This record gives sequence, C-alpha cells and structure tokens, in this order.
Amino acid sequence: MNAKITLIVNGDERTVVTDPERSLLDVLREEFHLTGTKYGCGEGQCGACTVLMDGRRTLSCVTPVVRADKKAITTIEGFADGDSLHPVQQAFLDEGAIQCGYCTSGMILAAAALLKDNPKPTDKQIKEWMNGNICRCNGYTKILNAVRRAAAQIAEVKIP
Ligand code: FES
Ligand code: FES
Repeated sequence: MNAKITLIVNGDERTVVTDPERSLLDVLREEFHLTGTKYGCGEGQCGACTVLMDGRRTLSCVTPVVRADKKAITTIEGFADGDSLHPVQQAFLDEGAIQCGYCTSGMILAAAALLKDNPKPTDKQIKEWMNGNICRCNGYTKILNAVRRAAAQIAEVKIP
C-alpha cells in the first residue's frame, strides 16, 4: 500500500505518495528528477548513490524512502551555495579528480560527510572512509588529493 512521504530535499519540502519500501534513490531520480545521484550497483556496494540524510552519508539505493520521511536530504544539486561551489566540489575540479563523472557526486558527498566530522583526516582515514565509493575510472590518486585539498581549504590553510 502506498504511503505519503515528506522529504526536505535540498531545503525544499517535497511530498510523494509511493510504496514506502521503494528506494530513496528511485524517488530522487524518478519523482524529483534529481539525476545527479547515480545508480551503480543497486546493492550498497559502490557509493554512486550517496546522499546526505540529516548530514550523514547514506546509500540511497538501499534506503527505503520511508526511512527518509521528514528527514533532510542533500543531493549534489543542492550542494553549491548559489554560484559558489562547496569547497569539496571546488577541490575536485582543481585537482582534476573527475573523469567520466559517474562516481563524482557520491564521492563529493561522502568526502563532505567525512570532513564535517573529521576536518583534518589523515590519508589513512580518508582512504578508509572513501573505501565504500568506487571509481571505475581508477581516479583514486586525484580523488585523495582533492579530499586533502578540500580539508586544507576548509581549514583555511594555504595550499602551495
Ligand atoms: S548504487 Fe548504491 S551503493 Fe551502488
Ligand atoms: S570518474 Fe569515472 S567512475 Fe569515477
């Protein structure tokens, strides 16, 4: 039986009447047309579908939409502040950490969640945290550099 679900998506209240077990990813893409969040494996293994739910990293492909009811969801579409990119977005651009781009929105949101909780992560901590996000283009070195750069920018440390 369908249920009425209310989500706060990128600051806007959005309502959908749907199967409560439907994935959050499906609702974001198919109902709200927020296609920046990607479908990769559909099994919680690749991180392409990463969003933030109440600020926490969440794999939207394995999250029933009912679990997101009344929660704040951030997707890549809501991540920039107007024309100003989020520091993590800017760092990915500056480091050239984007190839085909399929993993990028998930990588950026996962990295942002890390830096929110741990603004000065070690390389080991970055690698461990980002381990759940797969890049099929094998851009891991640049992605690591981007997360380092974002951490430095957020800490307002000058980057040589
Ligand atoms: S699509 Fe969700 S983890 Fe792969
Ligand atoms: S940039 Fe292509 S999958 Fe990561």
